[in-house]
Amino acid sequence: MQSEHADLLAGYRARMSSAASQEVLRSIEREAFDKGGTIAGMLAKVPSLEPSERAGAGRAANELKRALEADFAAARERLAQAALERERSGGDFDATLPAPKARRGSLHPLTQVQRELEDLFTSMGYEVLDGPEIELERNNFDALNIAKDHPARDAMDTFWVKTPPGQERLVLRTHTSPVQVRAMAHLKPPFRAIAPGKVFRQETTDASHEHTFHQMEGLVVGEGISVGNLIGTMQTLLQGIFGRAIEVRLRPGYFPFVEPGFELDARCPFCKQGCSVCKRSTWIELLPCGLVHPRVLEAGGIDIERYSGFAFGLGLSRLVMMRHGIEDVRHLLAGDLRFLEQF
Ligand code: PHE
Repeated sequence: MQSEHADLLAGYRARMSSAASQEVLRSIEREAFDKGGTIAGMLAKVPSLEPSERAGAGRAANELKRALEADFAAARERLAQAALERERSGGDFDATLPAPKARRGSLHPLTQVQRELEDLFTSMGYEVLDGPEIELERNNFDALNIAKDHPARDAMDTFWVKTPPGQERLVLRTHTSPVQVRAMAHLKPPFRAIAPGKVFRQETTDASHEHTFHQMEGLVVGEGISVGNLIGTMQTLLQGIFGRAIEVRLRPGYFPFVEPGFELDARCPFCKQGCSVCKRSTWIELLPCGLVHPRVLEAGGIDIERYSGFAFGLGLSRLVMMRHGIEDVRHLLAGDLRFLEQF
């Protein structure tokens, strides 16, 4: 190699070894090989040389070109290795770290309670039914013996769905009780069923009122079903929820679809002498219930000479609030992660 070429090569090598990145290296490489660059310039000069020098000059230029190519390839490899080494030894990115853990969600506290109760009731031979949230006026009211002038039908506390005149009127169901009507139409007695779900009421919302909340309906129809069966079932339910026997009492309660109708209270599971949950009374209102009104059974096509039944309406939202000491019902459906992440 001519000494002029040896100097050029040495100069390039020095710059290659001090190049700190692939980008810098690439720009040096372009200087050598691009059109108008070092090598191209040398080859362009060859035709103007004395014929006797041309072959030698051409060969020398090509030799230099190959030497540079090999050196650039080695320099590229060196930089790549160095980058990998930096990553391994704790640079700003560590390819060997495990991936960040995916954030896991959790079941909504309502879903948790609903599933626990479904397990409890299915273990007692109940089936779990579903019903539509947009319900026929007939199923939500008429078939449940709720008279046309009953205040529950008032447009003030019910969401009506606009339906063309002449078509059956639809409401957002105000309770899960219409599933009783649907159950009687589909199941042959004896049967036991629960129906959990969302219900809707036109409410001015506050800490204890929400326009959308959750209930769980219970319905048992069979021969000789009595208030005794109802009480026994409620005791089993409480035992399942609180893990121990809890005393219950019945007070009269009026609901058009049960006769007799009751409010069932349970001994406050949180205290002995009165607390904020039981409002210092040692009893908490657990649920309304009663024996299914004969008119409701008849509307459901059930032979009332042979069968009777009981029904209850458990307030799932209230139960969840009681369980976790939640002071405002509106937290339940607000979708606020700061609330939900606690469950
Ligand atoms: N459906 C009634 C309500 O939402 C509760 C209820 C259910 C009462 C079953 C008696 C029997 O208020």
